[in-house]
Amino acid sequence: MPKRSTTVDDTGAAPLVHEQVRIQRGRRSGLPVIVAVHSTALGQAIGGCRLARYRHWRDALTDALRLSAAMTDKCAVAGLPNGGGKTVVALPPEATLGPAARRALLYDVADVIASLDGAYATGPDVGTDPTDMATIAERTPYVFCRPPEAGGSGDSSTHTATGVMAALHAVCDAVFGSPQLAGRRFGILGLGRVGTHLARQLAAVRAQLVVTDVDLNKRPLADELGAAWLDPDDAFRAEVDVLVPAALGGVFTTETVRQLRCAAIAGPANNQLDEPATADLLHRRGILWAPDFVVSAGGVIHATAVELHHETTDQASHRVLTIGDTLARILQDATRAGVTPAAAALDLARQRVQLAGRAP
Ligand SMILES: NC(=O)c1ccc[n+]([C@@H]2O[C@H](COP(=O)([O-])OP(=O)(O)OC[C@H]3O[C@@H](n4cnc5c(N)ncnc54)[C@H](O)[C@@H]3O)[C@@H](O)[C@H]2O)c1
Repeated sequence: MPKRSTTVDDTGAAPLVHEQVRIQRGRRSGLPVIVAVHSTALGQAIGGCRLARYRHWRDALTDALRLSAAMTDKCAVAGLPNGGGKTVVALPPEATLGPAARRALLYDVADVIASLDGAYATGPDVGTDPTDMATIAERTPYVFCRPPEAGGSGDSSTHTATGVMAALHAVCDAVFGSPQLAGRRFGILGLGRVGTHLARQLAAVRAQLVVTDVDLNKRPLADELGAAWLDPDDAFRAEVDVLVPAALGGVFTTETVRQLRCAAIAGPANNQLDEPATADLLHRRGILWAPDFVVSAGGVIHATAVELHHETTDQASHRVLTIGDTLARILQDATRAGVTPAAAALDLARQRVQLAGRAP
């Protein structure tokens, strides 16, 4: 994802653009819990809780800073009355968490979130799920996506997939002159929670599918849907209309962009680009890259609408579909201004945050 431009002060240091960052060694777990609040200019900061293995906790801090800033852009572009934040817990590389250790760690996370007095609310992310959110909710109300039986809106991946489908219509309209998905060829990288929903939804509208996953247990799904299976190492060379990254971030690099044989890229994976300049590289290659922070917002749009802003399920579902209109507008703005879609999307985000009167 393109980084926000960073100004450098007289000392040569980049200024802190985040409103607050808490780093605390968990009282129970002894693990580093990091909560970054990038901006509350538009409202309460929101962003998932990531439990991931890091060689050094400072790497987790870097992730928290980057991901919380990206959440500000995601919320602003989605038109949410929320800012961006993130929780990252740095697990040691060899760590395994048993149930008691996991609960202790989640209580540590909850205590840091509670200490922010509502400036930030969390949700599931890599390494956490709705059940973990129910555990956090035992100690703080600032949490969303608890299981429905615990009063939350549950797993958001179906809504994320629905938002990606809306984005794919907009992308096909911009690139091929028709929003129809039937007969188009899509390459899905990663058949996890979101990728599986997407594969099913695309198969249901008679799109052609090429799919891959490092987990070979996903292969029967490909057979069930009549999708061609690719080795993950060949994924970037797939001859498809649209590539749909639905696994990890950082996959588009100078090296992988060179291999691509697609007309466009649009998928839910967060932080798809290794660095902002890769958006320019894709643009120069004539490949339309739909910014991930626009495409992947369906889950957070739905969860916050239902749980934090008490909208009906119908209102929330309607909001998810507006991702298509938002992306269409961004693509038009980009064409008109002669800039990349990434630049146009960031511009829209900045305008909305600045309009709120307190730029991050
Ligand atoms: N779940 C959501 O609602 C949501 C919302 C916004 C963004 N995202 C992002 O979308 C992506 C997918 O999320 P998810 O919830 O489906 O995750 P997931 O963990 O359920 O699925 C990821 C899948 O990718 C596969 N994978 C990992 N490395 C791979 C590789 N190199 N090649 C091919 N497959 C690979 C995994 O085996 C797994 O099946 C993530 O980047 C996530 O941050 C998810």
